[in-house]
Amino acid sequence: MADARARHVAIIMDGNGRWAKKRHLPRAMGHRKGVEAVRALVRSLQSIELECLTLYAFSSENWKRPEEEVDDLMDLMRRFIKSDLPEFLEHDVRLKIIGDWQSLEPDIVEMLEDALRRTADGTRTLAVALNYGGQAEIVAAARAAAEAGDITERSLANHLYTADLPPLDLLIRTSGEVRLSNFLLWQSAYAEMLFTDVLWPDFTPDHLRDALDHFSGRERRFGGR
Ligand code: IPE
Ligand code: IPE
Ligand code: MG
Repeated sequence: MADARARHVAIIMDGNGRWAKKRHLPRAMGHRKGVEAVRALVRSLQSIELECLTLYAFSSENWKRPEEEVDDLMDLMRRFIKSDLPEFLEHDVRLKIIGDWQSLEPDIVEMLEDALRRTADGTRTLAVALNYGGQAEIVAAARAAAEAGDITERSLANHLYTADLPPLDLLIRTSGEVRLSNFLLWQSAYAEMLFTDVLWPDFTPDHLRDALDHFSGRERRFGGR
């Protein structure tokens, strides 16, 4: 299927710490710059034809980081929602959260619930993975499928967080690491993958445009020939 246009792109936003380290700045600065990169990308959805952009913001394993860094990331999340929600509304962006986000701090849960409610009619989706782990997602979906007495691929997929999203076309990871780190394990089965050395704070909408151009040139076979 050459020349297909991607509908759903997911990004593992990695490299904030290394970006800061290279500049002899505290890690927190790297995360702050990382949020700016997110903001620019969300704005670019105005001119980039995509139905869904999914961003890995905090993994279920990221709790292992020092408390100070975790607090910092949660604070950035609060500030991002507060400052950017009006723009989501203005630009028709539907916010979706994937992962075990309901177990985050109550004030964040409340903010997110409010943001989800208010953006529910948006036509393009920004899915943010928060306290997300792909293996846990599959286990929960398998349990739900078993309870429904229908353990099939289709039923399992229908119980994933992503059930209402288009199939994942392209997965991008920044910062040079070539691993999935427990992200969208089921959904990646036939996704194209792109690993770039660019550190997340340096990732721009033009990098996304390049990745999409590259994607449209790839021949996806889905096991056929
Ligand atoms: C990604 O940057 C942000 C999160 C995981 C929240 P890192 O903080 O992992 O940056 P590196 O990998 O240490 O450079
Ligand atoms: C993956 O990055 C998680 C996010 C980008 C949110 P990590 O930096 O946590 O992944 P590892 O530890 O290098 O695998
Ligand atoms: Mg990292």
